[in-house]
Amino acid sequence: MSALADALRSHLGARVPRVALVLGSGLGALVEAVEDARHIPYAALPGMPVSAVSGHAGEVVIGRLGGVEIVILSGRIHYYEAGDPAAMRPALEALKAIGIEILVLTNAAGSVNPAIGPGEVMLIEDHIAFSGRNPLIGEATDARFVGMTTAYDAALRTAMLRAAVKVEEGLHRGVYMWFSGPSFETPAEIRMARVLGADAVGMSTVPETILARFLQLRVVAASVITNMGAGITGNELSHTETKEVAPTGGARLARILREALPDIAA
Ligand code: HPA
Repeated sequence: MSALADALRSHLGARVPRVALVLGSGLGALVEAVEDARHIPYAALPGMPVSAVSGHAGEVVIGRLGGVEIVILSGRIHYYEAGDPAAMRPALEALKAIGIEILVLTNAAGSVNPAIGPGEVMLIEDHIAFSGRNPLIGEATDARFVGMTTAYDAALRTAMLRAAVKVEEGLHRGVYMWFSGPSFETPAEIRMARVLGADAVGMSTVPETILARFLQLRVVAASVITNMGAGITGNELSHTETKEVAPTGGARLARILREALPDIAA
């Protein structure tokens, strides 16, 4: 087992979480609902990939959410930080090693669908890896040929949709398209994304979903929409806006997730 997995296990003690949650930009407030929370800075975990992006706390939070034992990664490293699409692999491998079976991925994203607005939440049903990069390039085993037909687990998606109805929060469904970033898209790229079948665009999540399926983790993912894609409103986009708007949708997503977690973990 890696030093990172060993360290996580020692912090867990007698706890045996099966669910891990990765929080996207500006979504750190989801941690506030965690009971018996224990915070471990990434810097204190050997081999933990550290993101330097503002709006990412950079800590592991262990505790219970909706009564379910959980490991939260508050902050993730992105492909655009160092050009490595597999940057999250050591973290996901460590989660697998400590017994995690289900990965909940969240992100902040731009909408390219006029029916999905800022502050709203979209359940990811499928994705388009538009960056063209794949985190499994260089993997030498046949396990690299990962099936992606049902990458986003149908039963887990149903649990999220049911939970949203129960807590009376809207939950859109759509396709997430991964751009490398870190520059935002152009208006022409956003029009292209729409034509190609995307509902939202963002700079994360897809490589983690591919790695998680490689590791045979079940995946469910949601986007918090922070803005309309470039050119839709004429406003310039900024990371400041992402961080400012994310908590609105983040609070919605937190309510849905807390309700869904018992079913997700069942
Ligand atoms: N594009 C890409 N990533 C994003 C956006 C966007 O419009 N908003 C938040 N993250």
